[in-house]
Amino acid sequence: MMKREQFGANFKWGVTISAFQNEGAASADGKGPSIWDTFTENIEQIKNNDRIGEASQFYTRYEDDIALARQLGLNTFRFSISWSRILPFGIGKINQSGIDYYNRVIDCCLSNGLMPFVTLYHWDLPQALEDKGGWTNRDIVEWFTNYIEICVTNFGKLVTNWIVMNEPMSFTGLGYFMGYHAPQRTGINTFLKAAHHTVLCMALGGAKIRELQPHANIGVALSCSYIQPVNQSPKNRRAAKRIEAMLNRFYLEPLLGLGYPFDVMPALSIIKSFFKDGDKQRMVFDFDFIGIQYYFRVVAKHSLTPPILFAKEIEPTTRKAKLNSMDLDVYPKGLYKLLKFYSRYPQIKELLITESGVCYPDYLVRDHVYDVRRTRYHQKMLKQVLKAQRKGININGYFIWTLVDNFEWREGFEPRFGLVHVDFETQKRTIKHSGRWLNAFLK
Ligand code: BGC
Repeated sequence: MMKREQFGANFKWGVTISAFQNEGAASADGKGPSIWDTFTENIEQIKNNDRIGEASQFYTRYEDDIALARQLGLNTFRFSISWSRILPFGIGKINQSGIDYYNRVIDCCLSNGLMPFVTLYHWDLPQALEDKGGWTNRDIVEWFTNYIEICVTNFGKLVTNWIVMNEPMSFTGLGYFMGYHAPQRTGINTFLKAAHHTVLCMALGGAKIRELQPHANIGVALSCSYIQPVNQSPKNRRAAKRIEAMLNRFYLEPLLGLGYPFDVMPALSIIKSFFKDGDKQRMVFDFDFIGIQYYFRVVAKHSLTPPILFAKEIEPTTRKAKLNSMDLDVYPKGLYKLLKFYSRYPQIKELLITESGVCYPDYLVRDHVYDVRRTRYHQKMLKQVLKAQRKGININGYFIWTLVDNFEWREGFEPRFGLVHVDFETQKRTIKHSGRWLNAFLK
């Protein structure tokens, strides 16, 4: 039987939440609107026409929720800061109530024995900055580093673990290429411009933290997928390599000094039209850790569209796959393969799993949620972590997405990922089977 001790005494056991998905209180105490406040105003864009309302009310219930995390036996708590709570318009006047709020959250983590990991950007760009072009405006480098400076100055006395950015590929791909997420912009040039500025912000943001707090532990959290070609034909194998370059290498390699993955996608070099002199160097930063977030496997095949990629995913619903409630292919064995993939980069010092989770329809029956499938999922994922450690891979943390059920972006409240069930009518919390298992395991 798997035991906690096998992972090492310094292993970080955490949960991850995010400001927009949990806090609610969209305009409380001076907070300005973010692009996700704007997006969710139109409830027709959200699955089941769900209204975000107060989300899972972390803004007012943070003490109870953090106490729950402690009760589960964790030692680490990852949350994100809402930029527009600190700077309602993204730049300019600081909102002291926002600073005070996050200081209370940080204090609360520490008094519960939880090490705070603070994400500086989890997709909720201040609307005022989007009105100026958002991630496609190069000024964002200045806006972002200014915001980081304010955060490190105000929270750096008690926080040393920083995640500069959460899943850049998700918010630029879905928000600036496919138009599926806020701010609903589309097109390859929009995407590449936003992407290049995002890379600069990650590296220069990291450098800003280092300058202000030399002993800080600084990382980024990157989404990744285990990718397989549909068959071994050279055409499909090359297609899988291109998807791999996009999903697993694109946002990592420039940070490590390797540049964008032009090797398998020469046409991607149009991104260079957004470079300024010196950018190659500006894109590089020596991160202390790389956070990886793996939710699903992708099976790839060659395709004539979209340009540059010339590859497509074969929908998991049309092949034999174990699906979660968002119809994504759940494949825990892919985790070891991914850890192995990332361990090949000598520049990476440490790996953490900064998010890992699965959504299934959960049912509350007489105060119990019997989510055994979620329990098994985390057990299987942890076995992959152990296997990687045994092979000498430096992986030192597992953060579960997520603590309590919350607002899953465009999918609304339907997908439930939490270890703790939330009745969104009453906000009542009920620890699920998976939460109870975790607690017993960590004891
Ligand atoms: C994101 C979370 C999201 C989760 C589940 C990650 O991509 O960081 O915000 O809720 O996956 O889909």
